[in-house]
Amino acid sequence: MIPEPIELVDNYDRAFPYLRLSITDICNFRCEYCLPDGYQCSSKPKFLTLAEIQRLVTAFTELGVWKIRLTGGEPSVRKDFSEIIDLVSQTPGVETMAFTTNGYRLKENAQSWHDAGMKSLNVSIDSLDRTMFNKITGHDRLDDVLAGVEKSLAVGYDSVKVNVVLLKGINDFAIGDYLDYVKERPVTVRFIELMQTGDNLNYFKKRHLSAEVVRTQLLEQGWIENIRVNGAGPAVNFSHPDYKGAIGLIAPYSKDFCLGCNRLRITATGDLRLCLFGDVGIPLRDLLQSDDQKQALQARVMKQLDYKKSSHFLAQGETGLIPNLSSTGG
Ligand code: 5AD
Ligand code: SF4
Repeated sequence: MIPEPIELVDNYDRAFPYLRLSITDICNFRCEYCLPDGYQCSSKPKFLTLAEIQRLVTAFTELGVWKIRLTGGEPSVRKDFSEIIDLVSQTPGVETMAFTTNGYRLKENAQSWHDAGMKSLNVSIDSLDRTMFNKITGHDRLDDVLAGVEKSLAVGYDSVKVNVVLLKGINDFAIGDYLDYVKERPVTVRFIELMQTGDNLNYFKKRHLSAEVVRTQLLEQGWIENIRVNGAGPAVNFSHPDYKGAIGLIAPYSKDFCLGCNRLRITATGDLRLCLFGDVGIPLRDLLQSDDQKQALQARVMKQLDYKKSSHFLAQGETGLIPNLSSTGG
């Protein structure tokens, strides 16, 4: 099916066919750079309901969104996760249905989530060493997570990606292990530069490393940078004739990163975020209460797009107000 013409275009001529929808802030992992003390529940959080999600996704697909990623927190901690997958994937206009997970229950659920309509997934694996994985995430579950990836490949997901946050002294010396990992597996491993957030300044100073170190190694070993396809996101991808898988680099501090921005975000309580690092959340929830509010909702979204800035201005030290990425799903 040919996607509808996209109505979501900003003042810099960027189109937004891709919506990242957080369905919970809760995460059961304690990644050092994100939630080092674990998820702290301030008051009883009220995350978007099934009916609100349905209205939101319908409104956005009518504006031309055709790719939806469920994020969190850890999206699969929601008891109604399969129902959410089912309703989002059935919404007319949704062509690509993806989610991002820490993988902790992937092995058991890869099949049922696929049956419910999920087709693509990204799993975070910041170390392939069991002890180091445990240290980073607070969970000794590397083997389970890796088994979850194998299961997903066996089940037949259209796309399986592994996210690795590049961390100086933790995984930068082990890039070769990830290259070995994709030799025989049709998996894309994506190295993501650590981003500074409100909570992780000291950690950032200690561990941040430019993705250029990976690029240099890849080029030395015969990897080839793929030509960017129109509408692709900000990742730069590499392939190699001797490898079944691929490597991606996500370098938010690099020049021109934001030129490829193709996504909008919704927080778990229904705020629109125009940029991961923007400090502005535009509440949409009041317009998700009945079906007849759809046009008002669409009008608010379109109006807000006018305010989307050309870049995140991270190089100038702006982090926005966001304390960590568990509330906006990375
Ligand atoms: N910098 C870079 N990536 C981050 N993630 C979470 N916090 C950060 C950060 N500060 C990543 C997770 C996951 C994705 C959703 O976002 O590791 O792969
Ligand atoms: Fe959880 Fe992801 Fe944050 Fe790790 S990075 S604590 S898995 S939300």
